[in-house]
Amino acid sequence: MQLRTLSLDDTAAIDLVATRMRETLIEVEGEAVGGAMYSMDWLRDRVHWHLDGRAAEVVVADDATGAMVGHTIYRIESGGAALSAAPFGLISTTYVAPEARRLGVAQGLLAHAEEWFRKRHLLLSCTWTSETNRPLIALYARNGYVEAERGPNQLTQTMMVRLTKALTP
Ligand SMILES: CC(C)(COP(=O)(O)OP(=O)(O)OC[C@H]1O[C@@H](n2cnc3c(N)ncnc32)[C@H](O)[C@@H]1OP(=O)(O)O)[C@@H](O)C(=O)NCCC(=O)NCCS
Repeated sequence: MQLRTLSLDDTAAIDLVATRMRETLIEVEGEAVGGAMYSMDWLRDRVHWHLDGRAAEVVVADDATGAMVGHTIYRIESGGAALSAAPFGLISTTYVAPEARRLGVAQGLLAHAEEWFRKRHLLLSCTWTSETNRPLIALYARNGYVEAERGPNQLTQTMMVRLTKALTP
C-alpha cells in the first residue's frame, strides 16, 4: 500500500474521494438518508475546501496495481466550548473500498494522520462517527481512543460519538 497526499490538481482522485464520501454516508446512514444528505457538487467542494491552503490533508491509499483503495481527510481544528481550548487534530472521514477491507488500510491511514498531528505538536486527536459504526469504533478503540462525548447529528438525528486520544510526542 502506498499513501499519497492529494493536491487541487488531482481532479480524478478528488472526484473518487467525493463519490466515496457519499458511499460512506449511505453505508452509515442508509440509502434514503445518506444518499440525500449532500449533492456530489457539495462533497467535491468539501474536498477542495480541505486542499485550499488550510492546515489539512487529503490522503489516499493506492494498492500495488495503483488502484485507489482508501482515503482519509484530517485537519487542525481550534477549540469550541465542549472541546479542548488548544488546537487539536480532527480526522474528518475515512473510507476503505469493500474489497480492500481488513487488510490494514484504515490502520495505515490513521497512523499517518496521527504522525501528521504529532509533527504539528497537537496534543489531541479525535473523530466523530455514528454510535452504530462498529468497525470504525473497533479500529479507534484498538488505537487507544475512548468515547469523550455524544450527541445527535443535527441533520439526521443519528446519535454520534466523539472518540479522542491524547497524543504523546
Ligand atoms: C471502518 C473502515 C474504515 C475500516 O477500514 P479497514 O481498512 O477495513 O480497517 P483495517 O483493516 O485497518 O482494520 C484495523 C482494525 O480495526 C478493527 N476493525 C476494522 N474493521 C472491523 C470490522 N468490520 N469489525 C470489527 N473490527 C474491525 C479491527 O481491530 C482491525 O484489526 P484486525 O483486522 O486485525 O482485526 C471500513 O470498514 C470502512 O470504510 N467503512 C465504511 C466507511 C465508514 O464507516 N467510515 C467512517 C465514517 S465516520
